[in-house]
Amino acid sequence: MYHDKLEAFPEDFLWGAASAAYQIEGAFDADGKGPSIWDEFTKIPGKTFEGTNGDVAIDHYNRYKEDIRLMSEMGLKAYRFSVSWSRILPDGEGKVNKEGLDFYENLVDELIAYNIEPVLTLYHWDLPLALQEKYKGWESREVIQAFKQYCQVLYGRLGKKVTYWVTFNEQNVFTSMGYRWASHPPNATDTKRLFEANHIINLANAEAIKLFRKMVPKGKIGPSFGYGPVYPLSASPDDVLASENATDFNNSWWLDVYCKGKYPTFTFKQLERKGIAPTIESGDLELLKQAKPDFLGINYYHGGTVAQNKIESKSIESLNDKNFSATDPYLMQPKEEQSQSPEVPMFQSSENPYLNKTEWGWEIDPVGFRVALREVYARYDLPLFVTENGLGAKDMVTDEGTIEDDYRIDYLNQHIMEMKKAVTDGVELIGYCAWSFTDLLSWLNGYKKRYGFVYVDRTEQDEKEMRRIPKKSYHWYKELIADNGENI
Ligand code: NOJ
Repeated sequence: MYHDKLEAFPEDFLWGAASAAYQIEGAFDADGKGPSIWDEFTKIPGKTFEGTNGDVAIDHYNRYKEDIRLMSEMGLKAYRFSVSWSRILPDGEGKVNKEGLDFYENLVDELIAYNIEPVLTLYHWDLPLALQEKYKGWESREVIQAFKQYCQVLYGRLGKKVTYWVTFNEQNVFTSMGYRWASHPPNATDTKRLFEANHIINLANAEAIKLFRKMVPKGKIGPSFGYGPVYPLSASPDDVLASENATDFNNSWWLDVYCKGKYPTFTFKQLERKGIAPTIESGDLELLKQAKPDFLGINYYHGGTVAQNKIESKSIESLNDKNFSATDPYLMQPKEEQSQSPEVPMFQSSENPYLNKTEWGWEIDPVGFRVALREVYARYDLPLFVTENGLGAKDMVTDEGTIEDDYRIDYLNQHIMEMKKAVTDGVELIGYCAWSFTDLLSWLNGYKKRYGFVYVDRTEQDEKEMRRIPKKSYHWYKELIADNGENI
């Protein structure tokens, strides 16, 4: 550490917490909502932990007032949530569902009544199933038009009430998991399809921002990206080069498009050589260039460590055999091609001997958070908004009915400390939304992996009640917010 004194967080810093529609709302077919691709995917046997799904989730749809009251008691300054597209447009396009729109307007009004800044995510992975079936989802440009209609409806209704808008949540994660690893819908393992769909999503992102400029001139909009800094395993120039390749492939591939309107050259050429580069039509690049965001949302969980070659050394052999799992969301690697072809980006993922892991095998790397914020800020020169950061764990309720999640407090404390250092370094930060406010459905890991400040009791006896119990971390975060992170 080279600061002798850390700077204070800005006065209007948005201390918040986040969620996503499919993970909390439930009411999967209530009040005219159409099905989404996640409603279908979670029903495929073997895809999720014990077949869990979001049909009921934590019933936030019916309990949002209770949840917002808890937010207000905590002193939360911002709440990030996502809108379920198929609640607004049950078929993804065409007829608008008034009840769906009313729900989100009521939610926003309730937040505003408590002085909580709403941060609205337009797309957190739950594409209307109708669009998947009719157009093959993001693989067709028709979906851009549908997305524009969806944005238009929301901008029109909520543009005067909501200042902060997030376009796509973790485009890197949902495209890779969905088209490469078949661990998200549409359940594919095809890199050509991945890069084609990803390009179309980039165009949708740009159209959404362009329309926003016309309809919500006073608002702020940007994507939320799952950023993982990449470390070289050693100081060998080959490993350093490998880490640059991995950064290009995992981070710049998306962030350069958002911020500079162009794909990074090295990765693009690699994909071209392999015949899997996206098809760029005339006018596409012009469109991408016209859609610079106002801020970048950063979701930070962990980064990755890479080397150029397979690691032979005895000392790291044991670390290496657990290599990263194919479904690690924050460090994608064209693993199988990489050993066969000299043409793919040269990097091999490896464990970092300096870092501990969570119960789910995710590295715990608070300094990496500071690295991430600095890297992104230095490269793209835009204000940053931390839209997610948190710890998934198996929380237990004690006999006294409390949840003593000191490990979560410790995790968040360390990360916020590093964030404060990044602010002192000069990174411009709008706010920090911890993931998550309440416990929620962890996509593939059901309700076992908990992230919330508020425990939700989903045991059978309590299923109807879905009792909310503030954890120890809830009270800790409340104090932190009260003094604006002064005593961290
Ligand atoms: C990022 C995703 O946006 C969120 O939906 C997910 O639950 C968290 N990561 C934790 O895995």
